[in-house]
Amino acid sequence: MDFTVLTLFPDLIGPFFDHGMISRGIEKNLIKGQCINIRDFSTDRHKTVDDRPYGGGSGMIMKPEPLQAAVEYAQKKSPESRVILMTPQGTRFSQEKAQELASQKTGLIFVCGRYEGLDERITTLLVDEEISIGDYVMTGGELAAMVIIDAVARLIPGVLGSCDSSKSDSFTDDRLEYAQYTRPEEFNGLGVPGVLLSGNHEKIRQWRRTSSLQRTFLKRPDLFRKSTLTTEEKNILMQWRRELGTFVSE
Ligand code: ADE
Repeated sequence: MDFTVLTLFPDLIGPFFDHGMISRGIEKNLIKGQCINIRDFSTDRHKTVDDRPYGGGSGMIMKPEPLQAAVEYAQKKSPESRVILMTPQGTRFSQEKAQELASQKTGLIFVCGRYEGLDERITTLLVDEEISIGDYVMTGGELAAMVIIDAVARLIPGVLGSCDSSKSDSFTDDRLEYAQYTRPEEFNGLGVPGVLLSGNHEKIRQWRRTSSLQRTFLKRPDLFRKSTLTTEEKNILMQWRRELGTFVSE
């Protein structure tokens, strides 16, 4: 999958493609990361990319011509890619959206706005989808694009070391991930749950289901509204309730 970022600040994005799992995915030819400077497509002497808003008001608006030329250039390099505008007005990004984007065969082109936004005609003519990473306003879309690329790239088979690594992610199946431990066995007086040292795979699986469920129950009970409890989950919660009852009455 090709990830292309259109931005006025390519230096923000370059190092992101050069580190960690993303750079490994690029080295393994599983993904491609490229950055296009919108300013390179401005045709005037001063390389102007913004102008005052019609109707007055504060701030500047990104001009349509350089943006259009940049998007068309990106589409030529990566045909049939989906054009995504990063904006707080877009639909909210989620793990489900990350999975949907990762299952696309084509590439993704991210348009990162700056200033007070971009000329509406670009959205109308060239943008397939608008995405927000949350209800807050940043100075530009670059961080949002990196958030999305990171979340999508790690779901592409082979990008993470083990192909199972993303299966137990938080939010997959609307549950948080179970608690994890590594060495040492004792740290600042705290141990590791004995079952994880037992080597009994079925017991470990059950413990993890319970941990995942308890954490979801305590930290993000709203997730239960999205998908109902399975029979196994109901049994686990009943058992937990019995244990808590014993604990409280002691
Ligand atoms: N640009 C500025 N704020 C943003 C947000 N919350 N999400 C996506 N793009 C943005």
